Amino acid sequence: MRGKRVLLGITGGIAAYKIAFLIRILKKSGAEVKCILTPASSDFISPLVLSTLSENPVGIQFWNKEDGTWNNHVEYGLWADIFVVAPLTANSLSKMANGSSDNLLLATYLSMKTKTLVAPAMDLDMYAHPTTKRNLDVLIEDGVGIIPVESGELASGLSGEGRMAEPETIHQVIQNYFDAQLEAEFKGKKVLVTAGPTFESIDPVRFIGNHSSGKMGYRIAEELLSRGAHVILVSGPTKEELEHDNLTLIPIKTAIEMLKAVQLHWNNCSYGIFSAAVADYRPKSIADQKIKKNDDELSIELIKNPDILKWAGDTKSSDQLLVGFALETNHLLENGKKKLAKKNLNLIVLNTLEDKGAGFGVDTNKISILDNHNNLVEFELKSKKEVASDIVSHLKMYISK
Ligand code: C5P
Repeated sequence: MRGKRVLLGITGGIAAYKIAFLIRILKKSGAEVKCILTPASSDFISPLVLSTLSENPVGIQFWNKEDGTWNNHVEYGLWADIFVVAPLTANSLSKMANGSSDNLLLATYLSMKTKTLVAPAMDLDMYAHPTTKRNLDVLIEDGVGIIPVESGELASGLSGEGRMAEPETIHQVIQNYFDAQLEAEFKGKKVLVTAGPTFESIDPVRFIGNHSSGKMGYRIAEELLSRGAHVILVSGPTKEELEHDNLTLIPIKTAIEMLKAVQLHWNNCSYGIFSAAVADYRPKSIADQKIKKNDDELSIELIKNPDILKWAGDTKSSDQLLVGFALETNHLLENGKKKLAKKNLNLIVLNTLEDKGAGFGVDTNKISILDNHNNLVEFELKSKKEVASDIVSHLKMYISK
């Protein structure tokens, strides 16, 4: 939930005290949290507890009597990635079902741009009442997600259906919502990814290779798969492993083999992310037998490998998008710009071995992304998993523009 904005709406039921725990786990999983309360709910949980845990001011009234500042319900609606009303009392439920807006929470519900989830909490008879059922049906029809009540001991001393779902359950439902949203991002899209090094044979036992581990490309493939894409991963020799129903893994050794695989699939793909460290040169001829060490010197004639990314850029249709990488030891931006233009890319991921923790073999990387409108975004040093998420999110943003 890193960076996700969760707006919690708290209404006046005894289960409100459990929201402190919900905030703890939401914060632990990386979410930003803000709380808005109905006036009645502050009798059940102190706003100070909520603001301390959420690290944000708490909204109760439309305006603050002390300093006259305005709590803007429209801004809350724009801020949130999800609105979760928990606990939801029978009273607030009926108001939500009927479009009342006589407090900040209700006005915010009507201003929501995104999904609202509710976790009802009430005594068993209130919960079983036909009015409650009818109001819940109205919310469902209006697109609100209901987090089912649980059965058990109730504050009244009675036992039955009506307990608010536990904070862990509510957290899981929120997580599932964000996961499903992510999965929808690239649903139905095929993405071609190249990863790892290429090995260019010298003779039957030797080759020219490089230090690429394939980690970056595999993390990108994983990220795309988690966002619903079908990934065609053309991979040079690597220790990385990946299995998924939506993955077509094509292991290759040489640049020529990588080119052939790319040529076979690029046409059918919407996007390409080429992270492979392709050898620029290969031996002109491969010796049939192991080369003997007879002489003090050995010369191997090299010829240029095809530029696979350039081929994809040259053949790219107007609705295909292509992302390349540039690993430079100097003049990173200048060379990146040139490469982006020469290879007809939409985005180029720039990195340099000069940054500590960036580059081959290590689990971290520090990148900047340049687009073909000259916009540059720089990122912090992060794990390759997080870098992959940044790259895929950036591509998604570029697509949606
Ligand atoms: O030109 P340079 O090798 O620095 O470009 C790096 C980018 O081009 C990377 O995205 C890499 O995967 C791709 N590339 C390629 N085929 C080559 C050389 C590089 O696809 N022969």
